[in-house]
Amino acid sequence: MSAHILDGKALSISLNKDLKRRIQTLERPPGLAVVLVGDDPASQVYVGKKGKVAKRIGFFHRQVSVSGDISQAELEAVVDGLVADEQVDGILVQMPLPEGLSASAVMERIPATHDVDGLTITNTGRLSQGKPGLVACTPSGVMRLLEEADLALQGLHAVVIGRSNIVGRPMAMLLEQANCTVTVCHSRTRDLPAITRQADVVVSAVGRPRFVTGDWIKPGAAVIDVGICRLSDGSLCGDVDFDSVRSVAGWLTPVPGGVGPMTIAMLMENTYQASCFAQGVVPIAAYR
Ligand code: GUN
Repeated sequence: MSAHILDGKALSISLNKDLKRRIQTLERPPGLAVVLVGDDPASQVYVGKKGKVAKRIGFFHRQVSVSGDISQAELEAVVDGLVADEQVDGILVQMPLPEGLSASAVMERIPATHDVDGLTITNTGRLSQGKPGLVACTPSGVMRLLEEADLALQGLHAVVIGRSNIVGRPMAMLLEQANCTVTVCHSRTRDLPAITRQADVVVSAVGRPRFVTGDWIKPGAAVIDVGICRLSDGSLCGDVDFDSVRSVAGWLTPVPGGVGPMTIAMLMENTYQASCFAQGVVPIAAYR
């Protein structure tokens, strides 16, 4: 067997094009502000990509780059300034923050209506109770990719590896809301391969290169790779050992070109939703 490849890049391009069409009816373009703290090279790349896509769709985009030695109070004042900016509908603070800064305190300066990352306590709480709100971008991108696979998720066993606030936890909630039976695994889990072998869907978000191998996977399962690491030769690879898993899985996402572009597409969708809310209009549904 050779897995069907879930092409996140192609899907994100069509979603972004569709969004470009949907924003035409707004009186002003959606506005996205991205805050970059410090000079982490990976964060610089991610923030650059988000800005590029935002501009391509026709959003108003503002990037605020500040030094890594900014104080907590100064950073919170930057966020407060963006909240007050009427052109800005959505605010994202790129994570991780340099040591010494409290990410959770910064996030809580962002009103839930502007939290296009879906990471404030209000939006994660709304998700946990199945209430509408802005949902974390990577997990919603994974759900959208799973829609492309011809799977009826109801009743399937989904295994999420990783329990971060950005990916693992909201991912588990979304899969549960899709009526999967969900197991969350983490660094203290015993005999992880024995658990993943029972899974119909595996989502790995641990950041360990080629951690998940073909012998961990049930034949035909959908395997979603959220990890992204740069190897010493400069190439990118995910949590999943693509070559060995490809011959066992039914569905598989590549790295790069799988989940990454979908995260950005979902960020754009959230910003559109936030902008519609700010402008008092009902969002146009995405084309499916
Ligand atoms: N760093 C890695 N992924 C993300 C994300 O989805 N949002 C933010 N703000 N930072 C990240």
